[in-house]
Amino acid sequence: MKFQKQIFGFMDMLRFKQLVPNRRKALASGADTPLPKRYRVNELAKALHPGRMQVEVTALRPLTDRMTELTFRRVDGDAFPFFRAGQYVSLQGTVEGSVVSRPYSISSSPREALENKLTLGVENAGFFSEYLNRQVKVGDRFLMTEPAGEFHYETLRDQKQIVCVAGGSGITPFLSMAKSRKEGDESYEMILFYGARDEAHLAYKAELDALAAEGAVKVVYVLSDETREGYEHGFVSAELMAKYADLQKVTFFLCGPAAMYAFIAKELAPLHLPVKAVRKDATCCGNRTVENPRTFTLTVHIRDKVYTVPAREDETLLAAMERAGIQAPNKCRAGGCGYCHSKWLGGEFVVAEGRDGRRAADRKFGFVHPCVTYPQADMEIDVPPAE
Ligand code: FES
Repeated sequence: MKFQKQIFGFMDMLRFKQLVPNRRKALASGADTPLPKRYRVNELAKALHPGRMQVEVTALRPLTDRMTELTFRRVDGDAFPFFRAGQYVSLQGTVEGSVVSRPYSISSSPREALENKLTLGVENAGFFSEYLNRQVKVGDRFLMTEPAGEFHYETLRDQKQIVCVAGGSGITPFLSMAKSRKEGDESYEMILFYGARDEAHLAYKAELDALAAEGAVKVVYVLSDETREGYEHGFVSAELMAKYADLQKVTFFLCGPAAMYAFIAKELAPLHLPVKAVRKDATCCGNRTVENPRTFTLTVHIRDKVYTVPAREDETLLAAMERAGIQAPNKCRAGGCGYCHSKWLGGEFVVAEGRDGRRAADRKFGFVHPCVTYPQADMEIDVPPAE
């Protein structure tokens, strides 16, 4: 036994002696073609996650008296990344000296993105949206984030049949979802309840009717202020929806104003549905109501720069920074994506009710989401640079 060990040890020594010459031989006989400069996996990652893109408006189309459709192309000529129907992009521009950005759900389909075309249906509500509705021109350029968001169908989580409820400009993600269904990229059965005051305020009606005729979606229009044959009337109640679907066997997708969410929540409460059965698209966190709002000083660190800006207690820290022309990172503006995640260095604050999307560790180690945080005293934060 001892003898055998010695033999093996001796052979190992011989092999070790040959190690360097063997390696030289292998290197000499290897191919001398240069290593590739581009790898497929990196190219794919770049195509799917381009970060922020410079985009240009290529067409404008009025949808209703309060909504305009904007069509964009990428200035570098690349395709937009493929996305999940229902997701949003954040559009950023400079209006009257302020850097402003807002998230908008995409109304075009993921396949149209591959043809360097992406559309947004923007309602005239708020500073930036009003600018996009009234003043923007073909050829104007903006920055746009890559598509993001969790408001999309998930086979493992959601029921085969989905009931979508849209109010106002909330129709846009559902148009994309119906198109994606038609193009064969999604397999759900979709019923869409689209509520509006009257027929004139139904955006994308011709497109929705065409998609319905092709079997991609069943659309039920619900008018609250006008009576017309072929339409449902009133509000999108549980009783109305139950005429078209078994409400215990569907997943709800809701996109519209907060009042619509509150109404539907009340309507669905008696059904005792599991939480995952109702999906809501997040809305931007805007100003809050405060009588005689105080103005504090917000000190912002971004890398080696320090800015001092006024911050009102009725506006978010993000809004205060943007008003002062500071480019702060943001996407959802609703507390959920974590993209604006910043280190808190001092000062009291409150977080908008129901919007605190921070993880427990973030709360413990002093991080805030400026898009949903309102100052209650002078504050100091360290913000990551916008890409
Ligand atoms: S922008 Fe998404 S959490 Fe603040």
